[in-house]
Amino acid sequence: MKYFIGNWKMFGVPRSIKILNKINSFRAKDKNRNKYRVIITPPYTLLEYFAKQFKNKRITIGSQNCYQKDKFSSNTAAISPYMIRSVGAKYTLVGHSDNRAEGDTDLMLKNKVKFALKNNLKVVFCIGENKKQKKNNQTFGVLKKQLVKVLEKKLNKNNIIVAYEPIWSIGTGKIPKQKDLLKTTIYIKKVLKNIFKKKSPPVLYGGSVDGDNIDTFRQIKEINGFLIGGASKSSKKFIDIIKNYYR
Ligand code: PGA
Repeated sequence: MKYFIGNWKMFGVPRSIKILNKINSFRAKDKNRNKYRVIITPPYTLLEYFAKQFKNKRITIGSQNCYQKDKFSSNTAAISPYMIRSVGAKYTLVGHSDNRAEGDTDLMLKNKVKFALKNNLKVVFCIGENKKQKKNNQTFGVLKKQLVKVLEKKLNKNNIIVAYEPIWSIGTGKIPKQKDLLKTTIYIKKVLKNIFKKKSPPVLYGGSVDGDNIDTFRQIKEINGFLIGGASKSSKKFIDIIKNYYR
């Protein structure tokens, strides 16, 4: 099973639903539709509306983040995994580099993962090295640390997906060399196998994925799908990625 996850970031108002309507109609007719899942993570303001509209349809709705507590608390503006699940979203991203940059620590991420899973959300856990770390050949060490500090054997690995997103690639148009990405994906899966003591959960790639460069990625069978930012805000660009992947 492959995953195409669209991360809208700070984008979208109710009428943006037309983007999802087009993606949904495409998938309904696509002969490859059973080979992949489409998940869109709009901002919190649209979760309930979109989740209702696409219930039992061909797009699943997820959240871009969640607060590190279970249900209700007195943290102003915080949204808990319980609240997200209760409006019909089924996934949440955790640890996106935007949120790490804003102060998410490993301990916070650990609690986010724990409470998201407890509330029956599937977790897309994001990891990735920055430009300087890559330059200094620290990529593997950084990724391993990000994984082992947060994930542990007792978690339900069936509800976890890992997204590898090199920070230097997000929104820049720069992508890793194919052979580097293959090596890194294999390494991440090895670390995950060690953590969970069995098969690795799916590992996605994210960072400047579009309809043109998807060809580079589709040849790497170890990659189980994609986390797509910029190109997910246009139905055409998002659909092109799927079309070209199965070309
Ligand atoms: P991008 O974003 O596709 O615009 O690079 C990816 C992400 O941040 O998830």
